[in-house]
Amino acid sequence: MTAMTAVTVRVPAKVNLQLAVGPAREDGYHDLVNVFHAVSVFDEVTVTAREPGSAPGEIILRVTGETGSGPTRVPDDTSNLAVRAAAVLAHETGAGTPITIDLHKNIPVAGGMAGGSADAAATLVACDTLWKTGMAQQDLLDLAARLGSDVAFPLLGRTALGTGRGEVLEPLPCGGGLHWVFALAEGGLSTGEVFRAYDRLRPDAPQPQCDPALVAALASGDAAAVGAALDNDLQRAAVSLRPELSHTLAVGEEAGALGTLVSGSGPTCAFLAADERDAQRIAARLLEAGRCARTITAYGDVPGASVVS
Ligand code: C5P
Repeated sequence: MTAMTAVTVRVPAKVNLQLAVGPAREDGYHDLVNVFHAVSVFDEVTVTAREPGSAPGEIILRVTGETGSGPTRVPDDTSNLAVRAAAVLAHETGAGTPITIDLHKNIPVAGGMAGGSADAAATLVACDTLWKTGMAQQDLLDLAARLGSDVAFPLLGRTALGTGRGEVLEPLPCGGGLHWVFALAEGGLSTGEVFRAYDRLRPDAPQPQCDPALVAALASGDAAAVGAALDNDLQRAAVSLRPELSHTLAVGEEAGALGTLVSGSGPTCAFLAADERDAQRIAARLLEAGRCARTITAYGDVPGASVVS
């Protein structure tokens, strides 16, 4: 049997259906109630073994992809979360032959859809497979949670309730497919900056609570009720930093979306549509109005990071 030399993993973006944010904690993070929903916008991460001894332990990162998703803004050095993911797994397991990581981006960069976290999760799965480290899923989830608040969810995919700083996950049933339009903005927003803006706007934030109406609507597959329950506490903070997002949201609302919200910390805006045709119609309306750089239509929920070759 020849040794495996490359592994490709496909990993989805997420949108938050509810993002309730509590007050800032001692460690600077915020307690969240975070209903994650994986959507059919995928990055592909390929990890390739290089010749042993070529540059021991060194990890090379290459980034390609849709220009509109901003691949040139992805750091290609050790500050990239995917490189850190490979390094942490190598350190934990004693594995770690020299590798090249190729990120093919479709998920908007710094767009509030957890693209960087998805790439880190995919890298964990790819390296685990390539190095045959045989990690249990719970151990991968724990490693992912150490890398960032949103890294564990793309390992699971589908729909899940995240608590703590977002990393404690419990799957939620989603009874029917949901159709989405994402309006991409020029440039990204820093998650940390959006949380700091939130602290200025809501110094008295209460402890976050999960919305039972959303959970019930998801379970029964009632898209209109899901749309009515969409809620993101970070939306006002993101709009305070990028006021033009309020126009983008208004165009989607006027076009009859079942629900609208800023995705995560933004600046991507998400619109829930009745079906695929409705999603195409809302996307066309957003482009006509000139209120976004690009649109993507997608559906959810979809499975988490999985090996494709
Ligand atoms: O965990 P991650 O590195 O993705 O978080 C990025 C930044 O977002 C943190 O440095 C913090 O400022 C903010 N954050 C937060 N509370 C959370 C998650 C993230 O304040 N639960």
